[in-house]
Amino acid sequence: MAVDNLTVIGLQWGDEGKGKIVDALAAKSDYVARYCGGANAGHTVTVGSERFALHLIPSGILHEHVVNVVGNGVAFDPEVAIGEIEGLKERGVKVDSDNLKISTTAQVVMPWHKQQDLLSESQLGNNKIGTTARGIGPCYSDKANRSTAIRVSELTDPEALAQKIKLVGAIKNEIFAELYDADPMDIDTIVEQYVDMGKYLAPMICDTGSMLRKVVTDKKVLFEGAQGSMLDIDHGTFPFVTSSSVSACGIPAGTGIPPKHVGKIIGIMKAYTTRVGAGPFPTELDNEIGEKIRIAGNEFGTTTGRPRRCGWLDTMIVKYTADLSGVDELSVMLLDVLTGLDELQICTGYSVDGEVLEDFDPSLLGRVECQFETMPGWTEDITGCTDFGQLPENAQNYVRRIGELTGRKVGIVSIGPGREQTLTHESDIEGLF
Ligand code: GDP
Ligand code: IMO
Ligand code: MG
Repeated sequence: MAVDNLTVIGLQWGDEGKGKIVDALAAKSDYVARYCGGANAGHTVTVGSERFALHLIPSGILHEHVVNVVGNGVAFDPEVAIGEIEGLKERGVKVDSDNLKISTTAQVVMPWHKQQDLLSESQLGNNKIGTTARGIGPCYSDKANRSTAIRVSELTDPEALAQKIKLVGAIKNEIFAELYDADPMDIDTIVEQYVDMGKYLAPMICDTGSMLRKVVTDKKVLFEGAQGSMLDIDHGTFPFVTSSSVSACGIPAGTGIPPKHVGKIIGIMKAYTTRVGAGPFPTELDNEIGEKIRIAGNEFGTTTGRPRRCGWLDTMIVKYTADLSGVDELSVMLLDVLTGLDELQICTGYSVDGEVLEDFDPSLLGRVECQFETMPGWTEDITGCTDFGQLPENAQNYVRRIGELTGRKVGIVSIGPGREQTLTHESDIEGLF
């Protein structure tokens, strides 16, 4: 029987709570597939008192029946992956070649990618992007360059791998010495390390594209986005973006499935806005309220620990990114974090030089002035609510207003990090949980 696949993507600048929702939806999924980004992602899943921070391993891993797929679009760092696999196993989570599949055609993050990320950022000084230093940009640059890229399939042939690492490593050493006056990397040590990691990972490496194409029509596949759509390489706040296609447009290319099989698309958004790293952020609150949200929401990076920049909800952004991916329903996260604020502001429009902007243009974001609408807040603790109707009237109205302003249904409302703190609201997606 044909079943609907599902896609979960972030609609802001990342950290919207994708990990929590993917874990929740994975209970009824057969496969969970990542298609973009790499260890720059940090997806948190909270089960009871246990908290798991996942970077490369898909967030379906806590459900034993789920096959987790690292798609070809991912920048795959074997060192981070092995550390994560071992960490999960130590905590009693099953991870093996039955429930973790890594694409032969994903790109491998090499030590020189991480070094270049750091060197390039320090060279840029005040103009830096504020990357996660995980080597993401340099890895995807090599993918586009082709001849200096290494793919996951190459990890499984020790002799050819050694030759390739020596060839590319020598080129990188030459470039780094010339450009940054950097000390040479020890290529023999890198060869040894990567050959060993290749042996460890070999049983999990396979052609995930053909595997997914075989099952995509009759098994339930959940596509797990990383980052947020405003960080999309093409459609985000370039150059302050990441280096892959993180909107739903990246799924077919990043997994090898036909576009029509992405299924229903759930757009994940915070009830406010955060951003890590540099770049425009029109509704940023560089004040006491921003600090209050940062503390209440524990807004510190899952991957780097950096404090996240916090601001009011910007529905211009959410509407743009939801339109971009054809989002079916919204999942409004961290609503509980806003509890206790007297008034809430929502950005409902932009103007530039006094002229109201009709169309959203991400390249103008650094110049826009926001038009705000003010709504009354609530003071009641909402973290124990089990039904949308139990939320205070003002919280319900805030959620309804998000739906109105974005022209979309709010299918899910999240009121805490726990699995049980997830309310369905007006979802049309059958058998969601
Ligand atoms: P992701 O990158 O989109 O998966 O999001 P992160 O895991 O980086 O950041 C989201 C943070 O919010 C994590 O610490 C989650 O545990 C937490 N979280 C998710 N949903 C809620 C919620 O509804 N309320 C609160 N208070 N925390 C939440
Ligand atoms: P998840 O999946 C938040 C941001 C970085 C930086 C920019 C470029 O947890 O939502 P990169 O290392 O990718 O070259 O950095 O992108 N960034 C994220 N911000 N959440 C993420 O992932 C992010 N992945 C990258 O902070 O501004
Ligand atoms: Mg995150």
